[in-house]
Amino acid sequence: MLRAFLLGTFTFVCPMWSSPDNPGGGFTSEFFNRDSVQLPAPKILDPGKRASQISGFIPFHSSFTRRRGLGPLFTNSSCGGCHLNNAKGPVDVQAQGVFGSSTVVMIGFRKPDGKIRPLREWNGQIPLGDKRFVRDLGIQLKRIKDESFTLSNGRRVTLYKNVITLNPRTRALRRKLSPQRGERLVMSLRISPPMVGMGLIEALPSGVILNRADPFDNDRDGIKGFVNLVKDVDGNTKIGRFGFKSQHPSLERQIGFALFAEMGIENKYFKKSKKEISDLTFKELVDYLKYAGIPKPRIQNRERFLQGYDIFVRIGCEKCHASNLTITGYEEPEFNDETISPFSDFLLHNLGAKMCDDFSQGLASGCDWRTTPLWGLGLSGIENGRQGRHFLHDGRAKSIEEAILWHGGEGHSAKNQFLGLNADELNLLLEFLRSL
Ligand code: HEC
Ligand code: HEC
Repeated sequence: MLRAFLLGTFTFVCPMWSSPDNPGGGFTSEFFNRDSVQLPAPKILDPGKRASQISGFIPFHSSFTRRRGLGPLFTNSSCGGCHLNNAKGPVDVQAQGVFGSSTVVMIGFRKPDGKIRPLREWNGQIPLGDKRFVRDLGIQLKRIKDESFTLSNGRRVTLYKNVITLNPRTRALRRKLSPQRGERLVMSLRISPPMVGMGLIEALPSGVILNRADPFDNDRDGIKGFVNLVKDVDGNTKIGRFGFKSQHPSLERQIGFALFAEMGIENKYFKKSKKEISDLTFKELVDYLKYAGIPKPRIQNRERFLQGYDIFVRIGCEKCHASNLTITGYEEPEFNDETISPFSDFLLHNLGAKMCDDFSQGLASGCDWRTTPLWGLGLSGIENGRQGRHFLHDGRAKSIEEAILWHGGEGHSAKNQFLGLNADELNLLLEFLRSL
């Protein structure tokens, strides 16, 4: 009895601790490049799981054809056409590649009660895979100048906002896009996020996420954080974790939705008439992302890295971009007893009026966004060259500094403290972030 008590206390005060230089615990890859997120994580030893993960590479990265279920409407013909090398996709609404566009423009009508009626015929997004259609729609991405700042290292940073405009050339399109009385046409631009740590995100206990929520700001630190609640593929309502609005509670639902909305491929969870992808291929797609590793931070000087992390904590970034979250009780044992640092709380936060786009999803208003996980932050720029050098949900920021300076609302105080750092501290923080 006493022994059990002591053991219990011991595990309580001394959990398996991960440090920010090992963000994925036993899932942190030995690789620094795309192999880290495309190959099985070191802790996945089960031969069946490893084989399924490796098999998923092909359906993820190869283009689907119409005969294999693509379309009729689609935005891109492969997952990898958007999630380039499993990193971020470019901001591209003109379908410049042969396979379609790499960004999603969600479209619908905002009703007087603030809810969105998605344009269902288009599966809720503009089918940017069709070049002629894109031309007829007259879609354009404009950069609108916003505020400028001078950082303590002397760098001047000017912020630009991304705005989508449509100028439909055919009467049929104009009719389709005209709102009913009291409604308003609204769009939301979303870049394709990197595929890092999807399995670990799914395995995080709901309690760990809920523990950090503070919807009424009871601790009065100016930061709230709340969960989105979504019906999962099994019919149960769960807390959301995937997507910029935490609008999907599980990988299965997220991937089923991506196949259907992004590629027009009907599947076991989202279909109009018949399944166009086998359950085996579907499972390989899930396993490809679920069992992949986490990129190892590229640390040049460990002491400076840890100093950068301390500043990140001190100025309040870590309040949302959370580190040291422990997984227990997941159905697959490999994931349990891992303490991970995704640098996200997976909660929704209001980052102020300048980040709003009027497109609500579930409990998330147009102003609420999921804290973006920062593990693998440096990977996109390496794997995609300039393609990955953009940040935030719509890719408006072209540098990490710009991304931070867009933080308003609940992120206002952290942004101000960022502006108050001296040049040495600023460089330490940026070095830390760039090496993730
Ligand atoms: C047209 C581009 C496009 C295609 C094709 C596409 N995705 Fe995505 N994906 C996105 C965008 C954009 C988001 C973010 C959507 C949002 O939150 O609104 C996303 C989100 C995701 C997420 C959640 C990531 C996170 O951090 O929460 C996963 C997982 C994912 N996609 C997997 C896939 C898979 C698997 C496929 C192929 C079956 C696929 N995607 C096809 C653009 C695409
Ligand atoms: C109130 C919660 C909160 C705080 C505090 C906060 N962030 Fe964020 N951060 C977010 C949210 C939410 C997003 C996603 C916004 C979006 O997608 O448009 C984000 C996005 C980012 C991004 C963009 C990542 C990408 O790949 O697009 C970076 C970089 C970032 N934050 C760094 C920081 C740093 C550094 C600090 C401290 C100075 C900080 N954040 C403080 C909530 C927060």
